[in-house]
Amino acid sequence: MNAATPAGSAPAARIPRHVAIVMDGNGRWAERRHRPRSFGHRAGQKAVREAVEFCLRQRIEALTLFAFSSENWQRPQDEVGALMELFLKALDKETDELHGHGVRVRFVGELGAFAEPLRQRMQAAMAKTAANAALALNVCVNYGGRWDIAQAARRAAEAVARGELAAEAIDEHTLAPYLCLADLPPPDLLIRTGGEHRISNFLLWQIAYAELHFTDTLWPDVDQACLQRALDDYARRQRRYGKTGAQVAQAS
Ligand code: IPE
Ligand code: IPE
Ligand code: MG
Repeated sequence: MNAATPAGSAPAARIPRHVAIVMDGNGRWAERRHRPRSFGHRAGQKAVREAVEFCLRQRIEALTLFAFSSENWQRPQDEVGALMELFLKALDKETDELHGHGVRVRFVGELGAFAEPLRQRMQAAMAKTAANAALALNVCVNYGGRWDIAQAARRAAEAVARGELAAEAIDEHTLAPYLCLADLPPPDLLIRTGGEHRISNFLLWQIAYAELHFTDTLWPDVDQACLQRALDDYARRQRRYGKTGAQVAQAS
């Protein structure tokens, strides 16, 4: 934690309600140490804990982490296997602690693709923590932004077929409830670690007006100070939503 900016010191409106993170750079972190990529994924777990702790301290409402994309299945089989094993172990190890901190955990994505033991643990963690309210932690696994939009469109089409929704009524407002995370405010701040400047099919719809923060820090090296720098950067932004800077300044 940066001692110059203790938790809660920034004005409330300057603290994002919802932070989303593309946790990137585990593989390079390990390769620099001449270790297998799975070593980097394991090291990344500590940064997940740091991020959760940081959000709890800052009273951020929601944290959404990109842990495994729809495209990550294309990686070498041993790496995918190591990631699945890590998820399984992490669920066994971390769920009670998260529950103890009042964190509501949700896994977001096409969960049907995972092996039964992993799916069961995900469901159990979600059920156990469902009533918690200190922080909404969303872990995106087998998630893709295009998949999300497609599943929303499919579910809306099903509602049309059942006669519950008129096709002419479909617009961005009526489609929104079918997208993942619809019950949360959209991400205010999207952080990508690891130096790449791209979205990689993360939340496409939901980040329409998110502020983007990129850092070269590799995910396993992310700590509270790094996250605080992202928040400080966010606090300096003027969010205009299509209006002029003068209009926004006047309204605030
Ligand atoms: C992110 O780190 C974790 C996952 C995608 C699962 P990477 O594994 O992509 O790390 P780099 O980008 O290869 O360094
Ligand atoms: C995005 O990282 C996915 C996750 C962090 C889970 P990738 O490493 O898969 O993204 P690309 O391949 O560099 O675009
Ligand atoms: Mg990567």
